[in-house]
Amino acid sequence: MTINDLIAHRGKLKDVRLQDLFDADPKRADRYSSQMGNLHFDWSKTGLDDQAVELLQGFADKAGVAARRDQMFQGDKINLTEDRAVLHTALRAASDADVRVGGDNVIPEVHETLARMRDFATRLRSGQIRAPGGGRFRDVVNIGIGGSDLGPAMATQALSPYHDGPRVHFVSNVDGAQIADVLRKLDPAETLIMVASKTFTTIETMTNAATARDWLARDVPAESVGLHFAALSSNLEKTAEWGIADERVFGFEDWVGGRYSMWGPIGLSLMVAIGPDRFDQMLAGARAMDQHFQSAEGRANMPLMLALVGFWHRQVCGYPTRAVLPYEQRLARLPAYLQQLEMESNGKRVGLDGTALDLPSGPVVWGEPGTNGQHAFYQLIHQGTDIIPCEFMVGAEGHEADLAHQHQLLVANCLAQSQALMAGRSLEKARALMHEKGFEGDELERQAAHRVFPGNRPSTTLLYPKLTPEVLGAIVALYEHRVFVEGVLLGINSFDQWGVELGKELAVALTPVLQGETSAENLDGSTQALIKRLDQMSTV
Ligand code: F6P
Repeated sequence: MTINDLIAHRGKLKDVRLQDLFDADPKRADRYSSQMGNLHFDWSKTGLDDQAVELLQGFADKAGVAARRDQMFQGDKINLTEDRAVLHTALRAASDADVRVGGDNVIPEVHETLARMRDFATRLRSGQIRAPGGGRFRDVVNIGIGGSDLGPAMATQALSPYHDGPRVHFVSNVDGAQIADVLRKLDPAETLIMVASKTFTTIETMTNAATARDWLARDVPAESVGLHFAALSSNLEKTAEWGIADERVFGFEDWVGGRYSMWGPIGLSLMVAIGPDRFDQMLAGARAMDQHFQSAEGRANMPLMLALVGFWHRQVCGYPTRAVLPYEQRLARLPAYLQQLEMESNGKRVGLDGTALDLPSGPVVWGEPGTNGQHAFYQLIHQGTDIIPCEFMVGAEGHEADLAHQHQLLVANCLAQSQALMAGRSLEKARALMHEKGFEGDELERQAAHRVFPGNRPSTTLLYPKLTPEVLGAIVALYEHRVFVEGVLLGINSFDQWGVELGKELAVALTPVLQGETSAENLDGSTQALIKRLDQMSTV
């Protein structure tokens, strides 16, 4: 089974209309769907037929997806360029699980840390852990970036109906505007800063942490400043150097990748917001997805099918992007979260052996919640010249029982969009429409052309009962495993991120130039010219 077999089969399906596939098979919606617990993933509105599914499954078998999955779960060092295991799944494993790295079971330590997080969050929430001045900590600021921000920030917003702890805020950007805007509203005496950084060296995070320390020091006695900090990191040497007391440090091992880290200490801000029991429910949802991923066969396996559909669209059909479209305002940060998860994992140009890929890398991932996106970029999705596979998601109910009518409207819009993408509107129908409106002749033709929707555009729909912690955990784990499978199909290492390094190094080198400490004369002409222009514009 090769990619060419898949591309050849796709050639045969090119002109098949989705609507015809449904007409030919009344059970298509059921046969082209996967179920995990109370999550339902409908992939029937893609151009796949039974043979395409078989070919994709054959490709996955040949790529060794099942064997690599087992290697991941059992702690083998599958992150070859960093010589590390990949065990975010261990962060949500049951306490009696046995997962070994270098011969040692890592689960007792995971649960010990979870117990410490639980204890800290409980005491913080109850007011037992108090600010040194005697008052409660009413605000918590998580300072982190990338995986040390996006996961907890996305989940904290997603689960806002469950917030019953201190207010939680997030600062990530090195742009001082963000931390200034967040801190301006807070009282230093009642604020706890969580510095979230796996490495504890990331320039944005350490700069913001220093800014927060200065902000505290202006109002709080010098000897108390340290008591306003906690650290979430795997670099215990650096957290100690920074003066954060050991009991305020929550560590994790190098086998947790940044973008896969919201299940452990990096999720502490979320745990503070929603409470340890709900955090556990989120872990349970993810664990259920892990078990499903390891045991469900073929089409029933939801992460496998989400990945095969993704691979079909990107690597077989050649569509360069995919849109993630949650009809759930509280999932507004999910597209950004998935951008890191998917693009940092699978935006790679060489395979495991270091040779160039002969397939396109993972797609551009983007999106916005519906219905907002409908009034922004859906025009292009429906009538643009590029085909953009759409991944819709929607809950059967919202949290606002008194606004059920709004939820019905939301669901109607979600379903209408995938319906419109599939069915489109033919030229004939557009002409009839224009005729009804009184147009004739050339003008009718011209007007009708603008109102044609080609249709036959693929989409998938993920349904869930309600956005609970458990459902969120399952959705995020679903996408993690999808990224893993797509990475195996590509033959790449999904767990490193060398592509972010060069820019970081150059920024470090440019900073003294911008600070006027070193000269720009050895820089390339373009950068020199830009620095000169900025200099002319600046008044400081
Ligand atoms: O952007 C690169 C990256 O290393 C991400 O993978 C990571 O999530 C982020 O930076 C933050 O890193 P850290 O948690 O070490 O501060």
